[in-house]
Amino acid sequence: MRMSIFEYAPAPESRDVVSIAPTYDHFIGGKFMASKSGKRFATINPATEEVLSKVALGNAADIDAAVKAARSAYTKVWSKMPAKERGKYLYRIARLMQERAREFAVLETLDNGKPIRETRDTDVPLAIQHFFYHAGWADKLEYAGLGENPQPHGVAGQIIPWNFPLLMLAWKVAPALATGNTVVLKPAETTPLTALLFAQVCIDAGLPAGVVNIVTGDGKTGAALVSHPGIDKIAFTGSTEVGKSIARALSGTDKALSLELGGKGANIVYEDAPLDQAVDGIVNGIFFNQGHVCCAGSRLLVQESIHDLLIEKLQRRMEQIRIGDPMDKNTDLGAINSKAQLEKIEELTQAGRDEGAKPWQPSCSLPGNGFWFRPTIFTNVSGAHRIAREEIFGPVLAVLTFRTPAEAIAKANNTPYGLSAGVWTEKGSRILWTAKRLKAGVIWANTFNKFDAASPFGGYKESGWGREGGRHGLLPYIRHAISRETTKSGKGGKR
Ligand code: NAI
Ligand code: MG
Repeated sequence: MRMSIFEYAPAPESRDVVSIAPTYDHFIGGKFMASKSGKRFATINPATEEVLSKVALGNAADIDAAVKAARSAYTKVWSKMPAKERGKYLYRIARLMQERAREFAVLETLDNGKPIRETRDTDVPLAIQHFFYHAGWADKLEYAGLGENPQPHGVAGQIIPWNFPLLMLAWKVAPALATGNTVVLKPAETTPLTALLFAQVCIDAGLPAGVVNIVTGDGKTGAALVSHPGIDKIAFTGSTEVGKSIARALSGTDKALSLELGGKGANIVYEDAPLDQAVDGIVNGIFFNQGHVCCAGSRLLVQESIHDLLIEKLQRRMEQIRIGDPMDKNTDLGAINSKAQLEKIEELTQAGRDEGAKPWQPSCSLPGNGFWFRPTIFTNVSGAHRIAREEIFGPVLAVLTFRTPAEAIAKANNTPYGLSAGVWTEKGSRILWTAKRLKAGVIWANTFNKFDAASPFGGYKESGWGREGGRHGLLPYIRHAISRETTKSGKGGKR
């Protein structure tokens, strides 16, 4: 039985806000172009398994056409344009996205399975903010501490994942264009539709043809982009495994590379923390976006003295989580993005059971079709368990305990990752003491999963290298002095 105090009447967002075409082509050189192979693949709504559309499957020839279009736009138009004019296009894109914000939110929810409340209030507004923010940088790069006369790489190849499709597009495209690069973007195979709506926005903004090119496809399409000799820089967000393979493929070339990979973020709750706020932060940390978040607070580290009380409060709070139709404005937890991801979550939670950790789930019911997983917490977890070490990328929390602050730090840093962490305590000095010792790129204090275009985001160790957002996020799109020298001597640079 559900213990909710309130029952909510259905509050569905309208699907009529979007019109989805039965098929889509690549966006190359300012036009929609069919795949050279003639092949397509289906993208579905993971909440219903309904086929939404069939999208072009890009191969090496499509990538080649897109890279050529990007190179031509870079050489003939974009690199010659005054920075202030470049900025105007970014402002225009941001405003057009604002006008179509509701459409973007509905399309993202249908294609990805995440709740409309999140796409409407988080993904889409943040994506727009990234364009506004970077529009402002376009003509101020000389004052950004990036060195004298900062220069773009040229053509950037960008590969993005399915967990925040439009937002990851914005994190990649906005800084690349602001710094004067042109781009070839490869969206994830399960979520290509908002990128294709973004292509229409580029057309409507009058963006010169070839400045943004979008080739849809799978891992092979991504690999063709990475190995294309006409690319000057690769930016990748996704799994650590693929990130490592890209780093290997690029070693020995002069292509620049930035990687934003996985994580196993520690969320540390000290005994003096405001517990009710911490509970909400824990829920936000691991159940936001179904836990498909690289910086999720997927390892809860609780001081032993408050463990039982905190778990009791957390379970009571979890009974209130509404799971179901992502298009309903009251839904908190939507669908798992794909069958493959659901199988990965199931495999790792089974490993948690087999290794002796104790699972708990609220008593919610799940829809019949689609891919679903109940929010889950595991107690009795040891640091050696797979659920404490591996990225689950789902709504599953591993709870560990500690006695002293030193033990909390040792356990938090006991991971090959280093993307995010959280600290909950009433004492400011303890926040600073803890943050200084945590090996994580982003640390939240008495909050979690807060994002802003002005704040750099990125990791340590196997979580990747390079930053996105803020002044630091411009750097990966700027050619460094040393490669400028190489270009002058005739090597590298333009191909
Ligand atoms: P993935 O890393 O395979 O996919 C991410 C993107 O890379 C997609 O656009 C994909 O088409 C592309 N890609 C795949 N293989 C490639 C290759 N060899 N060369 C170039 N591009 C390639 O991630 P996947 O399979 O969707 O998810 C697997 C696991 O990765 C998840 O369970 C999760 O743990 C992690 N992940 C982490 C993300 C993050 O934001 N850190 C995002 C997505 C997944
Ligand atoms: Mg889909």
